[in-house]
Amino acid sequence: MSLRVAILISGGGSNMVSLVDSMTGDHPARPVLVLSNNTDAGGLAKAAARGIKTSVVDHRPYKGDRKAFETELNATLDEVAPDIICHAGFMRILTEQYLDHWQGKMINIHPSLLPKYPGLNTHARALQAGDTMAGCTVHEVTAELDAGPMLGQAQVPVMTDDTPETLATRVLKAEHQLYPAVLRRFAVHEYAPIHMNIV
Ligand code: GRF
Repeated sequence: MSLRVAILISGGGSNMVSLVDSMTGDHPARPVLVLSNNTDAGGLAKAAARGIKTSVVDHRPYKGDRKAFETELNATLDEVAPDIICHAGFMRILTEQYLDHWQGKMINIHPSLLPKYPGLNTHARALQAGDTMAGCTVHEVTAELDAGPMLGQAQVPVMTDDTPETLATRVLKAEHQLYPAVLRRFAVHEYAPIHMNIV
């Protein structure tokens, strides 16, 4: 039987699409839910167009009460009993309530070569530092932000005329290659990090 994958998004969902589109044929997993904290997330329509169940757990009514938000998040995910949860541009800080419930099942993509630049504005920070290589990382999700064990990294060159936007576009293309490759390995318990160089 296929492993069940839930994908959490907050925005356009291009990584979600790359994951969903990879789970065909002899892939050991299938997408069972795309969940967003944001009703306006563009990725919801993309998931629905692919015939995937979608849910929204809006964080706004729970302002100041992360526990109640995560209770609802856990309950919504419990309904589809995911074996793996892919965080794909899911822009919420999560606490033990969620993290303990799904321990060992969560992976995340981050648009930097971690441990460099956890958090936001990764591309501007890479340019500011004069880095010649940038990229993205898929890692297990743990309590520390953007810091769980690394499962894979893809590097891209930084061009001399890059802006944060042009660099983000190049890194995002790399994300679309890296994340499906890591998910496929994670599904069969292959945790040794993979490395890609994308030119
Ligand atoms: C990606 O760059 C991801 O690494 C970051 O947020 C962005 C989400 O893009 N965490 P998308 O919604 O997958 O298009």
